[in-house]
Amino acid sequence: MSVWRIAGGNRLEGSIRVQGAKNAVLPMIAASLLTGCETEFLNCPALSDVEAAVDILRYLGCKARQEDDVLNIDSRDLCRSDIPSELMHRMRSSVIFLGPLLARCGEVRASVPGGCELGPRPIDLHLEALRRLGAEVEEREGEIVCRAVKLRGAEISLSLPSVGATENAMLAACAAEGPSVIYNAAREPEIESLQEYLCRLGAKVSGAGTPVVTVNGFHPCGSVGLRVMPDRIAAATLLCCTACVGGDVELQAVCPEHLEPVIVSLAEMGCRIFASGNRLRIISGGRLRAPRAIVTRPYPGFPTDAAPLLMAVSLRAEGSTVFIENIFSSRYRHASELRLLGADISTHGSLALVNGVETLHGARLHSTDLRGGAALVAAALGAEGETEIFDEGHIGRGYSSLDGDLRRLGADIRVE
Ligand code: EPZ
Repeated sequence: MSVWRIAGGNRLEGSIRVQGAKNAVLPMIAASLLTGCETEFLNCPALSDVEAAVDILRYLGCKARQEDDVLNIDSRDLCRSDIPSELMHRMRSSVIFLGPLLARCGEVRASVPGGCELGPRPIDLHLEALRRLGAEVEEREGEIVCRAVKLRGAEISLSLPSVGATENAMLAACAAEGPSVIYNAAREPEIESLQEYLCRLGAKVSGAGTPVVTVNGFHPCGSVGLRVMPDRIAAATLLCCTACVGGDVELQAVCPEHLEPVIVSLAEMGCRIFASGNRLRIISGGRLRAPRAIVTRPYPGFPTDAAPLLMAVSLRAEGSTVFIENIFSSRYRHASELRLLGADISTHGSLALVNGVETLHGARLHSTDLRGGAALVAAALGAEGETEIFDEGHIGRGYSSLDGDLRRLGADIRVE
C-alpha cells in the first residue's frame, strides 16, 4: 500500500514528455513469442503490468530485461506453454498470451484472468476466434486448455470490436495455414502498432485501424527494433490534471490525433488546446463549464479509460455533466471516493451525472482501479487542503511516474 499526499491549488506549468503506451507494448510483448527472435522495444514504460508480462516471458524460458525505457527480449529459448494462475492474475490482459503460445507451441494452458475492478472480463470472443482458427478449446474450473495440431486461416467475425480479442486473433492467425480475415476488428491505434511489429517480424498483416484486418502468412525474420507509440491515456491524464487546477502545460511526444475526443471535450469546457506536430499545449484558468455528454465508445469514440479523468475535471465545472459508459459494467467505482472531496455525483448503471460545485476539500481516499485512481489524483490537485490517497498498486500499473511528472509541473505531491 502506498499513500499519495497531495496539497491542492498549485497551478501546473512546464513541459513534460509522455510515456510509451502500456496498451501498445503489452500485446507486442506477447507477440514476441510468435517466433524465436530478439526484439528491442524503445520508449517502453516502466510499469508493473510490463513487469508482470516480463515475468511471464521469463517463466516460459525467454530472456527479458528492461533498463530505463529499453526492453530487450530474446524468445528463442521458449520451453513451456503453460502460465500459472499467480502470473495470469497479476495482469488482466495476460489472456493475450494465448494466441502466440498456441501459434508457436500448438498448445497453451492458462487460468482465466480474474474479473477486474471494471467488472467481469469475459474472454468468450478470444476463445471463439481461436476455435474458428481450428483450435480445440476446453474451459474447466477456471483453466483454459487450447490445442491445435495445425491452425487454419479463417474468417472471424467479432460480435464486439474487442481490443484483446482482435489482438489474440491476429497473433494466432500468424501461424495459420492460409489467409484469415477479422471482421468488426477493434480500430484502436494500439492495434496498428501491433500490426507494424508483426510485419517487422515477418508476418503479412494489413487493415489495422479499420474494421477488417487480414493476416496472410508469416515468414519469421531476425531481430527487430521498435519504438513504442505514445500513451494516449497518459496524455489525456496530464491534460485533465492541468484542467482540474489550471495552468499552462506542454506535452511532448504525443499523437494529438489519438486523443481527439478528449481534446474536444476539454475545449468545450473552456480550455485552450494547441496541437503542433507531436506536441500538445493546454492553457486552462478560471472556472470551466460543463461539456456536452461524455459517451464512451470503441475507438475512435471517446475512450472509456479517459472518462474518469474527464469526470475529475467536471467536478468543479459550472453546470451538469452527463456520462454514459458503454464499454465496462462498473466504471464508476471511483465516484463514491470523489464524493468524499465534496463532489456532487449520482450514478445509475451506465449513467453518471455530475453537478459542478464551486470548491472541493481535501479528504482521505482509496483508489479503486487504475484510471479511477488517476482521477482521484487529478481531482485532489484542484481541491482545497491536503488529500491522502491510499493506493494498492493500481496507479503504478499504468503510469510510470505520474507523481514525478506532476511534481515537475509544480504540484505539491509526494508518495510514501
Ligand atoms: C483493452 O482492454 C485495454 N487494455 C483497456 O485498457 C481498455 O479499456 C479496453 O481495451 C477498451 O478500450 C489493454 O489494451 C491491455 P475489450 P480489453 O476486449 O481488451 C467485452 C486500461 O485502463 N468483452 O475491448 O480487455 C468486455 O467485457 C485498460 O489501460 C467480451 O464481452 O477490452 C468489455 O465490456 C482498462 N468478451 C468490452 O468487450 C470478450 O471476449 C470491451 O473489452 C472480450 C471483451
